[in-house]
Amino acid sequence: MIKNRMQELIEIINKANYEYYALDRPTLTDQEYDRYMQELIKLEKENPDLIFENSPTGRVGGIVIDSFNKVTHEVPMLSLSNVFNEDEIIGFVDKIKKKVENIEYVCELKIDGLSVSLLYKDGKLIKGATRGDGIVGEDITHNVKTIKSVPLFLNEKIDIEVRGEIFMGIEAFNKLNEKRKKNGEQLFANPRNSAAGSVRQLDSKIAAERELDCFIYHLPNAQDYGINNHYESLKYMEKLGFNINPNTIKVKSLDELLLFINNWTDKRDSLPYEIDGIVIKLNNINDQKKLGFTAKYPKWATAYKFPATTVTTKLKDIIFTVGRTGMVTPNAVLEPVRLAGSLISRATLHNEEYIISKDIRKNDTVIIKKAGDVIPRVEQSLNDRRDGTEIKFKMISNCPICNTALVKNENEAAYYCLNDKCDAKKIEGLIHFASRDAMNIEGLGVRIIEDFYNQKLIHNVYDIYNLNEYKNEIIALEGFGIKSINNLLNSIEKSKENSLEKLIYALGIRHVGSKTSKMLAAYFKSIDAIIEAEYEELLNVKDVGEGIAKSIYEYFKDDNNLKIINELKNHNVNMLYKGNILNDSRFSGKTFVITGTLNNYSRDEIKKVIEELGGNISSSVSSKTYAVIVGDSPGSKYNKALELNIDIWYEKDLEQKLNS
Ligand code: IVH
Repeated sequence: MIKNRMQELIEIINKANYEYYALDRPTLTDQEYDRYMQELIKLEKENPDLIFENSPTGRVGGIVIDSFNKVTHEVPMLSLSNVFNEDEIIGFVDKIKKKVENIEYVCELKIDGLSVSLLYKDGKLIKGATRGDGIVGEDITHNVKTIKSVPLFLNEKIDIEVRGEIFMGIEAFNKLNEKRKKNGEQLFANPRNSAAGSVRQLDSKIAAERELDCFIYHLPNAQDYGINNHYESLKYMEKLGFNINPNTIKVKSLDELLLFINNWTDKRDSLPYEIDGIVIKLNNINDQKKLGFTAKYPKWATAYKFPATTVTTKLKDIIFTVGRTGMVTPNAVLEPVRLAGSLISRATLHNEEYIISKDIRKNDTVIIKKAGDVIPRVEQSLNDRRDGTEIKFKMISNCPICNTALVKNENEAAYYCLNDKCDAKKIEGLIHFASRDAMNIEGLGVRIIEDFYNQKLIHNVYDIYNLNEYKNEIIALEGFGIKSINNLLNSIEKSKENSLEKLIYALGIRHVGSKTSKMLAAYFKSIDAIIEAEYEELLNVKDVGEGIAKSIYEYFKDDNNLKIINELKNHNVNMLYKGNILNDSRFSGKTFVITGTLNNYSRDEIKKVIEELGGNISSSVSSKTYAVIVGDSPGSKYNKALELNIDIWYEKDLEQKLNS
């Protein structure tokens, strides 16, 4: 009876593991899974003589080895050659073209972990080994058995060796580092190091706790199983119960291959694990044989490596900048390094809390990370590189520009300079006023604003509208000709005609972004109506909650701010809503996807225009997409749109629709 129940539980749990890890189709909730597991653990404890060989409790660790045994790989575990740019990809493809016709490639994600060989006998996992030098690796079976996505038993009782990558997901990595920080242990620099550190433990309990994962991507002797192409071998291994990465495609042309690469270069940060490139493999195994191997690499495959997004450098100093709102941000001054294609010498440190929680010090060797479009930030200090010259961080107490004592609000990490006359705040406020989403004064960029401010040509935002009286002074400044002054004065003049929402945003009211500005403008129609509005009425505006309403109300009660508005009025700056935006909702409820580069619009501009007309922008194409806007070098979204028969708008179509 007990024996039957134990067998039943083992079957349920093993099936759930397969569905969860290999098929990516969970059938049990976490609670159900845990309940079955706890019941099985209890029964095994009470009946140790009945423990089954295929019991999933074998994964909970507890096996301790004295040292790692060596394992000689029957087929050497090769690494991959690397390519770093389009030219090198073309070089790789050209070499293949010389020997193969009707080429088909398989493109896979390059998982950033460590490679593993798994050996099964009669469908049972008997050995897990690291790559080592490619010929001789280390036996890590005890740790591999703790990885839930590695099947202990296959769906067929066969002898087979497969290869793949052990890795740690980003969430598990962050959790692990948080725990280590609490315990005062040294942090892992990245998920790959923590995965590698975990499988090199003698006690498997540690690996069991660390939530490792595994994707399988290679079947060394595929033809012994009647398989003649790589893609088929992946499908076969999936059927056996292995976890195969779902983002794998077959392509025939260089264009498709480059599309896949571009697509994942953009999207890599959306994955729950780290990838460091794309692996390109020739699909047909007989073709692979025609190309053969070098001593280290197969010639039928290569790895395109993404430009690095993390880099190590020296933190030379910590300096502070003051923003428009007076927020004081600590910034790292770095020994210049190249990161994701550009040379950087500054990175953000966010705030005091961030620096202290990570114990980042001046003179530390640090890891800098740049994800997507965001500014690079200091991710972590490498404590083991310290030599005693490091200086512990201490937050400043006064504004670095005007020396006013800084203030910290409760529940907020940031410190603020509250001096309205602080030069840094003034300059940032001017930069914001002239910026594109605000008054959009072309030619009035950061450097020029700083120059004008230092020359006392402008101090408050309304001084911008007096600049036409200072033509001679401006000409005297370096880098100014009559033409550039006229252009600048023209765009200043043009900005007077902006609709109200741009002015509201330009004022820089705390918590009022460009979207809220539009809502306010459409609701109140004039600046005077907003000035007169009661707090309660502000709450009627869409998206305006209590915090925003309070901030708007207080802004317009302040005499200094009213003076700014009056001065702008005196310069004939428009104070009315022109009503041409929210009234036109021709794209209302329609979803658009953008792919490729357009000539006349940036992504932000298209997004803005479409949203103003009531539409939404989505990042992926589905049957619900209304139209896909296609520019030069489109990504795979273009193919998807064709596949799903979604309307395609090229740039000229878009312009036509907007103008109609
Ligand atoms: S194929 C003969 N496919 O990248 C085939 N490797 O830099 C050899 N890797 O040693 C490997 N993802 O550890 C292959 N989809 C993938 C991969 C992958 C990650 C690792 C693997 C390899 C290293 C080469």
